[in-house]
Amino acid sequence: MANINLNGRDVAVDVPDDTPLLWALRDGLNLTGTKFGCGIAMCGACTVHVDGQPTRSCVTPISAVAGKKVTTIESVGSAKVGAAVQAAWQKLDVVQCGYCQSGQIMSATALLATNPKPSDADIDAAMSGNVCRCATYVRIRAAIHEAAKSLA
Ligand code: FES
Ligand code: FES
Repeated sequence: MANINLNGRDVAVDVPDDTPLLWALRDGLNLTGTKFGCGIAMCGACTVHVDGQPTRSCVTPISAVAGKKVTTIESVGSAKVGAAVQAAWQKLDVVQCGYCQSGQIMSATALLATNPKPSDADIDAAMSGNVCRCATYVRIRAAIHEAAKSLA
């Protein structure tokens, strides 16, 4: 059992302590926007924010986020930076199959929250753990610049 603040709401998650946050979100709380890719912190599809930090939920036990603030793709757009990122993603038509994109948006939002004017190198460093098998990397980078511009 863990009490967390999930997308602005206090919730009690009644699962064993070692349950990965990803499974608590998807199976226990029916928030299926966060995706399973590799399960070993290698692809970024499962990225959520824990106290604002991009976090791989597939390797994060629920016990590690007790008392913390967890934000998922379902609510990241309710804050200014996340909304700007999602708008830029739509404007530049970033998505191909879409499977990786929740994680991409969560990582991009965390980047812009701490670095409002990232360089290409900053973007590449921040996004390097988010794999896209459709290779949308060029559009992702352009959309992050676009979101930064819209927030300036
Ligand atoms: S599913 Fe978590 S990093 Fe791949
Ligand atoms: S859009 Fe298909 S894996 Fe990224």
